[in-house]
Amino acid sequence: MNNNLIKPKRRYVNEPQNYVKPTDILHSQTDGIIRLSESELEDQVVKLFDTMLANFWKPKSTKLSPDLQKLSEIPTDLLDTIFKSLAQLTALDSFNTINPMDIDKYLKYPEFSLLLAYQAGQEAVHTTSYSYMFETFIVDKNERLRVYNLAISDPHIVKRNQFIIQFFDQMDYEIKHNQGQVTPETLGKAILAIYILEGIFFYNTFTFFHKIAHTFGYMNQVETIISEIKRDEVIHIAIFQLIINTIRSNNNGKFLIPDSEIEEIISQAIAIETDYSIHSYNNLIGMNETTISIYTKYLGNKLLRRIGLPDNKFHEYTKNPNKLFDDKFDQELNGVSPYGNIEADNNVFVKTSSDYIQIDKQSLFS
Ligand SMILES: [Fe+2]
Ligand SMILES: [Fe+2]
Repeated sequence: MNNNLIKPKRRYVNEPQNYVKPTDILHSQTDGIIRLSESELEDQVVKLFDTMLANFWKPKSTKLSPDLQKLSEIPTDLLDTIFKSLAQLTALDSFNTINPMDIDKYLKYPEFSLLLAYQAGQEAVHTTSYSYMFETFIVDKNERLRVYNLAISDPHIVKRNQFIIQFFDQMDYEIKHNQGQVTPETLGKAILAIYILEGIFFYNTFTFFHKIAHTFGYMNQVETIISEIKRDEVIHIAIFQLIINTIRSNNNGKFLIPDSEIEEIISQAIAIETDYSIHSYNNLIGMNETTISIYTKYLGNKLLRRIGLPDNKFHEYTKNPNKLFDDKFDQELNGVSPYGNIEADNNVFVKTSSDYIQIDKQSLFS
């Protein structure tokens, strides 16, 4: 019997007791009431929540008719890739509508529910935007179903999805066999899986959509919606950054799995994302094996950096090689930090100013 099993939080405890402030993000038990004003995480949570609220958008506010009018100009192989890309985005956002609340169940700070519930809601909006695109661009119902089904039949898409899902399957298995409890390792890997999904698995595909819009003038309206989605996803990275760093702060700087294992799992994710993206986008619109490989490693380094790990694990790729995203992506990403500014974000575990200066010299953002 594993004594470190993590119990799910109780959603409401109406026993006569005073407010119990959570002292441990994983093991405290509170009355379940969200008291944001009393939370030590108030500043970080409010910043992320307000940013999500401010980003509110509706897919159908962007009219797709201009893209539909130009659809027949798009070469068949490119159009196939566009639809396959939308199918795989649909899959990621579908299961990530469920994942955040699975994690929330084990985090004892009630205010995380604010962020994770809203994140799940945003993922739901994202899935409706893909449905809106398919309905607009593909008249034939059977053809629409064929495209949706790529999410469960295309081997490269399946491999990517399974990489994330394996960690949640393990969580489900433990919940079933341990009266709802999970091991720290399994919870840690599931948290890391969402962090990876949000931080790595979207961005070669987003790059593809930016390139076809800006280089060829195809799918400009879709690209507008993709940009709205991307703006949400970078906040989701920041939410999971906050969760991981809060757990580390609660646990003498350690996460639920060793740092070496974090690096290994991110390394596997980079390999899978690179493989998928080369298979899908190589030599199609100016993306190639080299740019995809370097860019994906750059994303991996960025994830390590945000949770206080050395950001040069994946060699020299600490600068964004993707010129198209230099202004848009980095500025958006850098603007979303749960710690109020990028300096604090970079150095949440760095104690001295000299350490800070040393790390800042290696900055992605210099
Ligand atoms: Fe999403
Ligand atoms: Fe997301």
